Amino acid sequence: MPDSNEYLRLVGEAHRKRFGQYFTPPQVADFMVEWASRSGLKSMFDPAFGLGAFHGSAARLGITKFGGCEVDSRILQSWNNGRNGSAGLVEHTDYLLSWNRRPDNIVCNPPYMRFQRFANRKEVGQAFEKNLSLRLPGYTNSASAFLLKSLSELNGSGRLAYIMPLEFLNTGYGRIVKERLISGRHLRAVISIQCEKEVFPDATTSAGIILYDAARTFSHVDFHVLSSIGRLREVLKSKPANRVPASSLDPQSKWLARFSPGEILAHDDGFVPLSFYGRFHRGIATGANQFFVLRPSQAKDLKLSSRELLPCVTKCNQVQKPFFAGTDYAELVRRDQPVILFSANAAKASRAARAYIESGESAGYHLRYLTRMRRPWYKTEERRPSPLLVGVFSRNGYKVVRNTSNVITLTCFHGFQPNLFGGDYIDKIFLFLLSKRGREIVSGSKRQYGDGLEKFEPGDMNRAPAPCADFLDAIDLRSVEDAMACVKSAGALPQQMEATFETLG
Ligand SMILES: C[S@@+](CC[C@H](N)C(=O)[O-])C[C@H]1O[C@@H](n2cnc3c(N)ncnc32)[C@H](O)[C@@H]1O
Repeated sequence: MPDSNEYLRLVGEAHRKRFGQYFTPPQVADFMVEWASRSGLKSMFDPAFGLGAFHGSAARLGITKFGGCEVDSRILQSWNNGRNGSAGLVEHTDYLLSWNRRPDNIVCNPPYMRFQRFANRKEVGQAFEKNLSLRLPGYTNSASAFLLKSLSELNGSGRLAYIMPLEFLNTGYGRIVKERLISGRHLRAVISIQCEKEVFPDATTSAGIILYDAARTFSHVDFHVLSSIGRLREVLKSKPANRVPASSLDPQSKWLARFSPGEILAHDDGFVPLSFYGRFHRGIATGANQFFVLRPSQAKDLKLSSRELLPCVTKCNQVQKPFFAGTDYAELVRRDQPVILFSANAAKASRAARAYIESGESAGYHLRYLTRMRRPWYKTEERRPSPLLVGVFSRNGYKVVRNTSNVITLTCFHGFQPNLFGGDYIDKIFLFLLSKRGREIVSGSKRQYGDGLEKFEPGDMNRAPAPCADFLDAIDLRSVEDAMACVKSAGALPQQMEATFETLG
């Protein structure tokens, strides 16, 4: 295989991103090819050939019948040069647009382009409708489209080993992929690569390996966690993190939680979805923070009227503790932090606001993606202050905040609005979210990106499991008050409250 570093130096980063060119290390490719070859069928196919990582493995294992597809002529040329011009085995074509193959075994590390950058998504969608009578969900990324197509083409006695960004296990567009994976009970295992920096140093998303054997049916699916690449050879012989009956795998549910043994689901006994108590909503998306977010000194200089200015947390790091009160906001104002939202939503803008809006138009802020959709462009979304906030992104556990101030937030936080019933439970829900057990339970709903970055969408939080009302009712108010005081002074729950939530599940 030609040197991938040399190739990347030659073509540059933009070319790599355009085609989703990330290369499979030999140990991973060897493992996948070796597993797939055990179907007993002779040939192997790689729909996203690149520099031929899987082909190299096949050659090492003595597999001579190998075919593939590659859409990018430059990478194909590099590969051919590396082999002194011997060609023919790889078709220069777009895999998603060339149908009617029936490969024996398929091994693949598909290109990963999110739906926005998946350039010919429309054409590909039409090809799926024509060939599979399948409508691809709008957010489908290129990797999911590859996997769906390969599953439909695989020989009925063959095996498929696929590297996948695992976020599809928890997202809406992934439902259709999960349906196909489990429909015939051929899914053998899903391996989550937790040592991603070792395996894919440049990747920005968390990856895993899907193993699918069309010749066999499995009563259980093994969910493995790979902590070091050296363990890959033995991974299928080791005890899985979780062995899940195939019958209980629901394509609608989030499967990332399946890697954690003892995971809790929102419909389990003693649990309800958090939406039972209210709903999380995302914060305000301005479309041009440079224009809408102001420091107190700027607002003063601009002589803006206070009715056009809203107190607003605009960055996650403006909230450092689990409690946020009016005094905390006042301190941010005193330090002249950017904590004011320009919101000229009233029918008649003041003269100073009109002048500011005009200056925004001269700078072109009204032509941004979000602002040009709005009428008028400077009208911001309306939000009420939320008593509970949860940070959208986190690295070592999510940020949860009990807000008693009147601030609203931008998209750095999701805000919880209780329903009529949930209003009485705010403190208890806050303590649950803050507790160690609560974090374990709710974290099953997060999305994982590369490098330990985690994200919650509002819907993830709304569907996350929370203790049922009977459980919360049994926690007496005195211990809630003590726990709140302890969080205020020490930043953590008292042991007794931790122990209460430990009994969950
Ligand atoms: C993630 S790389 C994997 C390369 C190689 N198989 C490996 O594992 O190292 C994906 C490859 O698919 C190619 N590719 C992208 N879109 C494609 C398409 N629609 N059809 C075929 N190949 C495509 C890219 O150019 C890239 O070489």
